[in-house]
Amino acid sequence: MIFGPTFAEMRDPSRIRPDLREKARAARARPLDPLNLYNLSWKADGPVPYTVLPEVLTGVWAPIVVLSARHFPTGSHKVGPAYSILAEKQVEGQCAPGEHTLVFPSTGNFGIGGAWVGPRMGYRSLVVLPEEMSAERFAKIRDYGGEVMATPGSESNVKEIYDKVGELRAAAGNRVLNQFEEFGNYRFHFHCTATAALEVVRDLGLGFGAFVSAMGSAGTIAAGEAIKRDHPGCAVVAVEPVQCPTLYNVGFGAHRIEGIGDKHVTWIHNVWATDLLVCVDDQDCLEGLQLLHQGSEVLAGEGVEAQVAASWTDIFGISGVCNVLAAIKAARHYGLGPKDAVVTVATDGFDRYPSVLQRLSREQGPMNRDEARRRLQVFRGLHLGGAAGQDGGRPARAGGPRLLDLAPGARVRDRSPHRGTAWLIGQFRARQ
Ligand SMILES: Cc1ncc(COP(=O)(O)O)c(C=O)c1O
Repeated sequence: MIFGPTFAEMRDPSRIRPDLREKARAARARPLDPLNLYNLSWKADGPVPYTVLPEVLTGVWAPIVVLSARHFPTGSHKVGPAYSILAEKQVEGQCAPGEHTLVFPSTGNFGIGGAWVGPRMGYRSLVVLPEEMSAERFAKIRDYGGEVMATPGSESNVKEIYDKVGELRAAAGNRVLNQFEEFGNYRFHFHCTATAALEVVRDLGLGFGAFVSAMGSAGTIAAGEAIKRDHPGCAVVAVEPVQCPTLYNVGFGAHRIEGIGDKHVTWIHNVWATDLLVCVDDQDCLEGLQLLHQGSEVLAGEGVEAQVAASWTDIFGISGVCNVLAAIKAARHYGLGPKDAVVTVATDGFDRYPSVLQRLSREQGPMNRDEARRRLQVFRGLHLGGAAGQDGGRPARAGGPRLLDLAPGARVRDRSPHRGTAWLIGQFRARQ
């Protein structure tokens, strides 16, 4: 049986035996080598990779700090939960290589993580995901040695995935690794992602204003709970697509932010820890992604350091931009200042989305310089109050702020974490 790193080693790879760590680093050149299990860490290559988005892009004083997850072995930190869930099951004797097939229900990155982790640990991996997910996702699963079972629909058709998984669960040799209910997912972020965020903010010499995460499984947002232990004034900001506002108003619908907004509240989501709920328009995320990916020159012309703008071309996916837009809204809502870091994550990088931007260009035409300049308003023009149409000169698609403060009127540092959430749950029940 193959075992990889412990939680403590993923949190702090310097605890890994030095010779093994050296071998793991050399294995980076061979992505399918199981030694890469020891690269399952935010700090596998040294300090945590991150970028800080400046005021000239965001229009807010608070530094928006984005942890970049594309250095994980599959190009997304979602491989961490896939590994953690499997490792816990192996330790508990619930599955063994050669005996069991692993089934990963997913809309993408968790499944890609499962396709990578399973074969590296001697298992057959079967990934169940919607047929309309990006072509790049399907290719990656197959490249890593996983098998695909496609279900009808798109990002928010999670029920269809679970209908299929229900059938697969009946076979004795199958083991379902469900990220929505397995606490290995929660624990990875509570211990590892939180530590990464805490270290970055400490090294920047900032305070912690907020931790922001759009929910898929709601694993990543568990980092916010751990951060609050050290920084009780840090707000935990949950994010949903405007088109699929499940916690916001029991709404649901198809949207284009791959990886989040799955039309349900997951078993591992501790909603009691939420301070603020923010909804973000999927079209803004796509347009913002195109600006960050193709608009370096325009960004440099607008005052972003050229080298910094160039570094953004590859580190964001759609949900990373969604997180950034929510972070800006949160910073503005709380009136955070230059010493209050708002931390979020870019769960994956651009490599998964060329086909998505090609589709956007087919729909809207290519992004010329004028259009790129206009798209700066996607970031700077996000404003909180007022009616539709007053969004920094740019028509507001969603109309209104789409933001729910669960402790209205309280300053971040004075907030009681429970008062607001009870109100949220009341709302949720009342509207069901
Ligand atoms: C691209 C992307 N962004 C965000 C998320 C959401 O992360 P979490 O499942 O930890 O809530 C996912 C989850 O699969 C994802 O694939």
